[in-house]
Amino acid sequence: MNRKAIGVFDSGLGGLTVVKELKKVLPNERIVYFGDTARVPYGSKSKEVIVRYSKEIAKFLKTQDVKMIVIACNTASAFALEELKKELDIPVIGVIEAGARMAVEIGENIGVIGTKGTVSSKAYYNAIKRIKLGANVYQKACPLFVPLIEEGMIDDPITEEIVKKYLNEIDVMIDSLVLGCTHYPLLTKVINKLTNGKIKLINPAEETAKEVKMILKELHMENFKREKEDQYFVSDEPENFKELGELFLGFELEDLKEINLEK
Ligand code: DGL
Repeated sequence: MNRKAIGVFDSGLGGLTVVKELKKVLPNERIVYFGDTARVPYGSKSKEVIVRYSKEIAKFLKTQDVKMIVIACNTASAFALEELKKELDIPVIGVIEAGARMAVEIGENIGVIGTKGTVSSKAYYNAIKRIKLGANVYQKACPLFVPLIEEGMIDDPITEEIVKKYLNEIDVMIDSLVLGCTHYPLLTKVINKLTNGKIKLINPAEETAKEVKMILKELHMENFKREKEDQYFVSDEPENFKELGELFLGFELEDLKEINLEK
């Protein structure tokens, strides 16, 4: 069991921000990643569709013999976590509870940016309120961020303008801003620049990685010696994923394959 991989999935590149954190705290674990690049973005799709996609991906990851699944996507965490937990016989975790725990540490006034799906689900709002009832939560959907990031337009004046527009629309003083979409940590530099570093940015991936470590330890499922390399799968355009993914992670994605889940 311990030698098995951790399955991680997202609609595309975003989940790599979770992979990056997992690698820091669990260097001996093997990752099997699935990025649903054929069907990105998830953020504008209905709960029903996201649950269906998530189940298909989980089924695929199970064929890769994973010991645990990390839903490295806030939209899928908001809509499909409970369903996957019910359906699977291995531990499944999302990123939202971890992000909420981090946010309440900073201050009472919490901004949350995410996809339309995550924001409309109120998953962060509810998770934060469960921990700290008195917290004020200001949510803002930023639907243009994911396509810009998937296009690699990270250091781009157009992206900067769009970030500025969305942030201006959060018209209140906030202590922290939850990057409530796993793609958004790629925009950390530009968000920090536009907020003069005055707002603490919360990357839920950091706490999620610690939670994964804790769960593996508790269940005695940690791997102390990695034998095989990580594997990456996408449902479309592996070249684009490879180029941007390697740039972000800082290492080569040697074992990357395209697969069609619908076949
Ligand atoms: N990265 C995902 C999230 O955290 C999905 C973004 C999208 O595909 O819209 O919500």
